[in-house]
Amino acid sequence: MNEHRRMTLGLLLPLLIAVALLGLSISCPQKPRSALLSASLQVPVPIRPVLDRTCLDCHSYETRWPWCSRIPLVSRLIQHDVNSGREHLNFSTWTGSAPHLATTNEIQEICDAVSDGTMPPRRYWLIHPDARLAQADKDSFCEWADQMRNVGSESRDWQGQEPPGEPVKAGSP
Ligand code: HEC
Repeated sequence: MNEHRRMTLGLLLPLLIAVALLGLSISCPQKPRSALLSASLQVPVPIRPVLDRTCLDCHSYETRWPWCSRIPLVSRLIQHDVNSGREHLNFSTWTGSAPHLATTNEIQEICDAVSDGTMPPRRYWLIHPDARLAQADKDSFCEWADQMRNVGSESRDWQGQEPPGEPVKAGSP
């Protein structure tokens, strides 16, 4: 390799790497994607930004396709991930509202998946470091599940009647 070519390569390579890294960090400004979801989707306010950041790329129609999704093969893998994610849980078509038992169970599944670290998948947060969930984020998903269970059980069990006050302990005077 002559001196000239080596110099060109030495210049070109860092440039290519820089472009690749830039591509990773640039994402178009958008309005919060959770705002585009169905109005009947009752996601507690503190959870919305977490959904935006960590779930909606794979679990809604509001996917932000990353630059690398245009690379053959990589695009197949990402497309597969998104299709499969939407199949399991799609917040765009989800009409999650209390007191549906199915919704409550689904939110419990969400709580389980984020608590044991299966969601978001590691391959995702390796590329999107801000999608790594803090313990507080995980907790808020699980509080949401608890909340839904409470609302659900009240309206299922009492069907419009006033729920009784404190349960009377057996054997108390
Ligand atoms: C990179 C894409 C991707 C991201 C990001 C992602 N998921 Fe998933 N999710 C999937 C795929 C794919 C599946 C299908 C099952 C599997 O492959 O593990 C899935 C399955 C699930 C399931 C169903 C689990 C089951 O047992 O059926 C839940 C619940 C879930 N995800 C919740 C979430 C939540 C909540 C977030 C955000 C905190 C999230 N996911 C982020 C791709 C993703």
